[in-house]
Amino acid sequence: MRELALHILDIAENSVKANAKLVTVEILVDDNLLTIRISDDGKGMSEEFLTRVTDPFTTTRTTRKVGMGIPLLKQAAETGGGTFDIKSQVGVGTVVTTTFQLDDIDRMPLGDIAETATTLLYPNCDFKWIYKVGDREFVFDTREVKEELEGIPIDSPEIIAFLKSMLKENIESINGGIII
Ligand SMILES: Nc1ncnc2c1ncn2[C@@H]1O[C@H](COP(=O)(O)OP(=O)(O)OP(=O)(O)O)[C@@H](O)[C@H]1O
Ligand SMILES: [Mg+2]
Repeated sequence: MRELALHILDIAENSVKANAKLVTVEILVDDNLLTIRISDDGKGMSEEFLTRVTDPFTTTRTTRKVGMGIPLLKQAAETGGGTFDIKSQVGVGTVVTTTFQLDDIDRMPLGDIAETATTLLYPNCDFKWIYKVGDREFVFDTREVKEELEGIPIDSPEIIAFLKSMLKENIESINGGIII
């Protein structure tokens, strides 16, 4: 994978599959540290399952025997001068936190967050995106968007296109010219 945004997509899809009602994605840049945290209120994992979840052969998929989402993010974090942590509790939810050194030459670029965020629009699962660079912050909450939409599906093509360009603009303005 070439972009952290695609790893975020994978991890957040795990949350959706775990029947989360709300997934919070935080992307925080502070000096030389990039922190990405994905939290959900889905079904969670047992302690025993959690100890082997970073192993590619741990999966509850029925279509194939390997699950790569978590192992690949762990590997990306560790090669990008960073850290990986996962916490989970059955019936409560899961939190995946990774950090990266911004200036590490092996760190993947953040990539297209607007694309990832608009791929993750669902009628029955909400997302809260918190994008923060230094003290500039942008929050995108699908619960608020749905309220404004008054019944129009959030995953309809026109809404997706509108939200994608809105997110792009906001992210660029928060970045203030730097490429993360
Ligand atoms: N947020 C989560 N909540 C509950 N269970 C999870 C969560 N994330 C991962 N899991 C469990 O851990 C397993 C491994 O996840 P991982 O993303 O590594 O692989 P996968 O989702 O099975 O397959 P892939 O990501 O390659 O499509 C999943 O099959 C699922 O059972
Ligand atoms: Mg997965």
